[in-house]
Amino acid sequence: TPSVGLIGWRGMVGSVLIGRMLDQGDFAHINPVFFSTSNAGGQAPSFEGVTPEETVLQDAFDLENLVKLPIIVTAQGGDYTSEVYPKLRAAGWQGLWIDAASTLRMADTSIIALDPINRDVIDAGLKAGVKEFIGGNCTVSNMLMGLGGLFKQDLVEWGTAMTYQAASGGGAKHMRELLAQFGALHSAVAEEMENPASAILDIDRAVLAAQQSGLDASQFGVPLAGSLIPWIDADLGNGVAKEEWKAGVETNKILGRGENLAPGVSGRGAAVPFDSLCVRVGALRSHSQALTLKLREDIPLAEIEEIIDSGTEWAKLVPNEKDATVAQLTPVAVTGTLDVPVGRVRKLEMGPEYISAFTVGDQLLWGAAEPLRRMLLIAVG
Ligand code: HSE
Repeated sequence: TPSVGLIGWRGMVGSVLIGRMLDQGDFAHINPVFFSTSNAGGQAPSFEGVTPEETVLQDAFDLENLVKLPIIVTAQGGDYTSEVYPKLRAAGWQGLWIDAASTLRMADTSIIALDPINRDVIDAGLKAGVKEFIGGNCTVSNMLMGLGGLFKQDLVEWGTAMTYQAASGGGAKHMRELLAQFGALHSAVAEEMENPASAILDIDRAVLAAQQSGLDASQFGVPLAGSLIPWIDADLGNGVAKEEWKAGVETNKILGRGENLAPGVSGRGAAVPFDSLCVRVGALRSHSQALTLKLREDIPLAEIEEIIDSGTEWAKLVPNEKDATVAQLTPVAVTGTLDVPVGRVRKLEMGPEYISAFTVGDQLLWGAAEPLRRMLLIAVG
């Protein structure tokens, strides 16, 4: 069994990753070596049924130790990757680097791993000696896990996504901030809420006053509870939010289309124009998105539904009816599951090739941890 260095296993993404690996028995296939950026020398974690050879936490900045490993999996974040990865390669390390951070995603030496969609790309890369396998942006991975069938069959001429992204995309502190804001808003009007006769416009005024002055918004910058934020990630200076840029470039890179492709991955066609407008909403950990797709041809709706439903094992077509939609197509219904429901599928007024769709996916499962653990299993064969 190969030794696998695990870095950032204690954080939010890392914890979900370890949880899934334990659930699925992944530790039977590896000898885990637990690293720490802050507590080297401390006790390695003990998970039931997992017996690491090394019972002490290793120093995540100790290159001599890291270069001995054939595989490193990190959910430590982009700063760690930027600092350590170039040094490892400079030291001649030839192992596989499996990473949740975005740092290396668009490098032409890397592959974005989402094997239910691009196993062919992953296999071609492994054969060609690619050594960087990076988890995709959460919104992109979830979109493809739901609508991948249409992309795999090359039926999409172009697409747009209007997103409704959960607080967890920002991190653990952002989730706490959102919940604290919900609590503070309720507290601001708790007395009036007790009294059914109080005027709703008074309550609304008091809530707005709290939102405009009384809320801690140090993570998101502005209040999210009872509001939304139509910008995610950096301002690229050209009117595009970095999250929106990622949607287009990563979707195509995962599919092996367009440019920025790793060695061994080519010939899968020109990039499909895909753009979005990304919005943070007060959901906790599932990202939703409303899509408009232009298909290359006029395909009967029933056939489109079938292609979506069978696109991946986890895509689930939700009938485009009110009851099914409100029951199955929400963050509350999806969080904690690997299902990626897709609903609201219908033809649009613009013409028979235009369809709408709405999809929801857990930001920490397919959006972060699951592609990494699956890539690890592929790597250890
Ligand atoms: N950038 C994403 C978000 C999360 O902020 O929701 C990471 O993929």
